[in-house]
Amino acid sequence: MSESHTPKLAVLFVCLGNICRSPMAEGALRAVAAKSGLDCIVDSAGTAGYHIGDAPDERAIVTARADGVDISGLRGRQLDLEDFYRFTHIFALDTANLEGIRARAPRDGSAKVALLMDTVEGKQGGSVKDPYYGDDDDFRQVWEEILIAVSAMTTRFESEGVQAEF
Ligand code: 4NP
Repeated sequence: MSESHTPKLAVLFVCLGNICRSPMAEGALRAVAAKSGLDCIVDSAGTAGYHIGDAPDERAIVTARADGVDISGLRGRQLDLEDFYRFTHIFALDTANLEGIRARAPRDGSAKVALLMDTVEGKQGGSVKDPYYGDDDDFRQVWEEILIAVSAMTTRFESEGVQAEF
C-alpha cells in the first residue's frame, strides 16, 4: 500500500532551565492549538540540566493560570539528541539558547530550528528575556510576548503546515 505520509506537526520550545519561559510557551501553544483545532504535538526542554524533574517556577504557573492555562503538571527535562528527529520545529526562547541548540544539532537532524521571536513580524532575531531573577511584571511580559508568538506561529501552521519556516 503506498500512502503519502505527511509528518505530524511537533513543536519543542527550549529555554535554559525549562521551568520559566519554555513551559509557559508549551502551555500557551497547547491552549491556542486546542482552541483553533490545530493538530500538534507540543513539548518543552532546557539546554541546562539544573531543573530536571522540577515543576515550573511558581510565578510562571500563576501567570499562565491568570489566563486559564494550567502548566503545573509539566516537569523539567533537558534537550536531547532524539529531539532533533522527533520534532518538526524547535524554537529557542533566546539567542544564547539558540546557539546551545545549534551546537548540539546532529547533521542529519530534521527539525527546523529558529527563535521563538522569528515568528513575529518585526521581532525577528529577538529574545524573550530570562525572568528567573526578575519579578511578577517580568513574568507577565514574557507571557504576553509568548502569546503573540504562539498565535503568529499557529496562523502560519494553519496555512503552511509542517513546511512552515521561520
Ligand atoms: P528559564 O529560566 O530558562 O526560562 O527556565 C531559568 C530558570 C532557572 C535558571 C535560569 C533560568 N537557573 O539558573 O536555575
